[in-house]
Amino acid sequence: MAGDGIVRPVSVQRRQFLTVAAATAAAPLMLKASSQSASSADKAATGRELHTTTLVVNGKNVTVTADARTTLLDALREYVGLTGTKKGCDHGQCGACTVHVDGKRVLSCLTLAAMTAGRSVTTIEGLSDADGPLHPMQQAFIDHDAFQCGYCTPGQIMSAVALINENPKLSEPEIRELMSGNICRCAAYPNIVTAIMQAKVKMGS
Ligand code: FES
Ligand code: FES
Repeated sequence: MAGDGIVRPVSVQRRQFLTVAAATAAAPLMLKASSQSASSADKAATGRELHTTTLVVNGKNVTVTADARTTLLDALREYVGLTGTKKGCDHGQCGACTVHVDGKRVLSCLTLAAMTAGRSVTTIEGLSDADGPLHPMQQAFIDHDAFQCGYCTPGQIMSAVALINENPKLSEPEIRELMSGNICRCAAYPNIVTAIMQAKVKMGS
């Protein structure tokens, strides 16, 4: 079963995967189940109408055709192929799925993809250029070993970047409080806060 609760036949899932793989080479990305047969198969499998939404993800237009109730999290991971954004609870309780929408932090598991049509979505993959230096927050997490398994890390970093962009003068207690929605099962919290304090200085300079 997909994360959106829709049971899809394996053949449909495989077709969607292959479509994503092909679409990532194109600009703008076009993930629509490009053949009519794919849409028909999906509709037949789910009994639901499909909805086409154009998102701007990491600066590129991405067209997704999916159930109208597809979350931004599932659209990013399952349709666009950007798996850096993690699914933890899928209920707005862990912060693992945090991305930026128009620069503000958003829980993508609680956001419908259709609600972000035409808005600027940034994921962990778009935080720094592939060939350029890491974002100061990414570098600080490495410098301070601010992760163990790393599953929560993309969400932690996206939250932290948005917080510091909103207020570069946050104190350590304020950072602890404002990061409290991002859960780390490995309990790397002390190092996470230390990393954010380092990045805060570099982001402000
Ligand atoms: Fe979105 Fe946990 S997966 S808050
Ligand atoms: Fe493992 Fe945070 S580093 S959950």
